[in-house]
Amino acid sequence: MSAGNERFSAEAAAWDKNEDVHRASESALQAILRHWPELIENKEDAPIRGLDVLEIGCGTGLLTLRLAPYVRRIVAVDAAQGMIDALQQKLAKAEVEAAKGGKREKGLVQPICVLLEDPEDPALPAVDTSGDAASFTSRRKFDLAISHLVLHHIPDHPALLKTLFGCLKPGGQLALTDFENIGPQARLFHPENRMDGVEFHGIEAVLFAEQMREAGFVDVSVQPEWTMEKSVERFPGEWKAGKPDGVELKKMQFPFLLCRGKKP
Ligand SMILES: C[S@@+](CC[C@H](N)C(=O)[O-])C[C@H]1O[C@@H](n2cnc3c(N)ncnc32)[C@H](O)[C@@H]1O
Repeated sequence: MSAGNERFSAEAAAWDKNEDVHRASESALQAILRHWPELIENKEDAPIRGLDVLEIGCGTGLLTLRLAPYVRRIVAVDAAQGMIDALQQKLAKAEVEAAKGGKREKGLVQPICVLLEDPEDPALPAVDTSGDAASFTSRRKFDLAISHLVLHHIPDHPALLKTLFGCLKPGGQLALTDFENIGPQARLFHPENRMDGVEFHGIEAVLFAEQMREAGFVDVSVQPEWTMEKSVERFPGEWKAGKPDGVELKKMQFPFLLCRGKKP
C-alpha cells in the first residue's frame, strides 16, 4: 500500500481534473440511493435521525460530499495525506458558503488520514461518552460503511472485510463499489504508468461475495450496477507522456459492482 499511498498523495491536487472520477462517483451515489431509497425519503430528517456513515478511501471526497446531504455524518478516511488535505480544503470552502446561507455544514464530514486496518484504530472517533471510563477507548460504530474505487487497491480483502465488520453497529450495512474483473481486458482500466498500488484488475463478484459471507455478513449481494465508458490505451504504455492529442481514443465499457451486506 505504501507505493499507492505515495501515488495518491502526489495525485491528489490534480485528482478532480479527471472527468472520469466525477462520473464514477455520481454513478456510485445513484446506485446507493437506488438501494437505500429511505436516504431520499428521510433527507429532511437526516441531521437528526440519518445514518452514521464510514467511508474508507474517500480520496478528495467526490462521493463523500455527494452523499453528505442524505446522512447524519460521515467519517471519511484515507491513507494518503494529500487526499485528506484536498478534502479539508473543500470543506473549509463549503463551511464559509454555508455560514453565509445559514445551512448546516460543520461536523457533517470528518476527514481522517489513516490506513484503516483496525476497527479500534485510535485515529477513529471515540464513542460519544458521558465520562464512562470503561467505554473511553472504544471507537464509534457506524450504520453504513462505503467505499468507491478502493477495493482494487487493497491486497487483502478478507482482512478489510473483517475491519469493516468491526466498524459497523449490529444491523449496519456495507455498500462498496468498484469495477468488475471481466477478464484480461480489465487491466486496461488503468494506463500502464498508473499501476502503482493497483492490487487487482477489478473485483471478482462470486469470490468477493463468498469472502463477505466468511467475514460474517448476511443478505450478501454482489451485482453489476452500472457500466462506465472509459478511454483506454491502444497499446501498453501509449499514454506514458499523457493522453495523446488529436487521435481518436479507444473506448471500453467497464461494469461496476455494488457489494451489499449486513452485519447481523
Ligand atoms: C482510486 S482512489 C479512490 C478515491 C475516491 N474514492 C474516488 O473515487 O475519487 C483509492 C483511495 O483509497 C485509499 N485507500 C486504499 N486503502 C485504504 C485503507 N485501507 N484505508 C484508507 N484509505 C485507503 C487510497 O489512499 C486512495 O486515495
